[in-house]
Amino acid sequence: MLKVKPKKRHIILAGALVTLCIATAGVVYAIIYYGDQAIARQESTSKAHLAKLDKKIEEIEAKKLAEKKAKEEAERKAREKAKKEAAQKAAAEAALQKQLAGQTVTPAGCAISGAHGNPASIDVVVNKKRCFSPINYVPADIVYYQGYPISNKIYSNLVAMINAAAAAGKSIGLTSAYRSYDNQVATYNHWVSVNGSTAAADQVSARPGYSEHQTGFAVDVSSGGAGLEAFANTAAYTWMTNNAHKYGFVQRYKPGYEAVTGYSAEAWHWRFVGTAAATDMKTKGIHTLEQYWGLPGGGY
Ligand code: DAL
Ligand code: ZN
Repeated sequence: MLKVKPKKRHIILAGALVTLCIATAGVVYAIIYYGDQAIARQESTSKAHLAKLDKKIEEIEAKKLAEKKAKEEAERKAREKAKKEAAQKAAAEAALQKQLAGQTVTPAGCAISGAHGNPASIDVVVNKKRCFSPINYVPADIVYYQGYPISNKIYSNLVAMINAAAAAGKSIGLTSAYRSYDNQVATYNHWVSVNGSTAAADQVSARPGYSEHQTGFAVDVSSGGAGLEAFANTAAYTWMTNNAHKYGFVQRYKPGYEAVTGYSAEAWHWRFVGTAAATDMKTKGIHTLEQYWGLPGGGY
């Protein structure tokens, strides 16, 4: 065994101790240094993450705010629309009540003019959106056929059609023709009382000033006592569906077109529009005047 003098041994031990201390200090320093760096990296990652989260929260809040504003705006618009509609409805109802009391009132926005707006022309279109102006318009050319008042513009064609039907063994008679504003007041009031409300009457009868009977160009027909709904089941109705266009007449309110015309189907109500238009409609398969001439229809 190597013999070391006690003094030298002390020096070696001291050296080893110092080396150990330096090594330990180095390790501790390294731990602290790298630890700090890791914490700094962690902090920076967390900060970036937090910033991202903050941004997301801001975006969500902005979106929520925009949605809230849009909802409030939509609600405000809906309230305004409902208010406007209620005011319009109230005005229309007030006008209707005056009309039903026999007063001549032209409700706002319905007066016809311009194309298809001349009540003396056979191409006029009167419906729930298009009333007479003046509201109590009276045709200047009323003549009588079998006691019924009609416009002279339809006289010869009506007679020719009824005669042709008779020659074919079908009888066609009139039950109503020209009706004045005052007549329509009575007619409409009748249907209000029969059906129990103006809403129900509106499906089958025009309000005063809105009936094309007021033009003198419309007739209600029957056959052998079968009028109104019953007329649809007669041979005369079938004959008219096949031949009326040759005389310038069209069935004005057909089944399946209630939303366009604004009225329930009426087999008995025929309107004179002239042979050219009636034949053209038949050829093209167009069933309403609104669709043929591109005009608004439907409800009031
Ligand atoms: N029945 C039809 C719609 C009128 O009253 O003119
Ligand atoms: Zn009629």
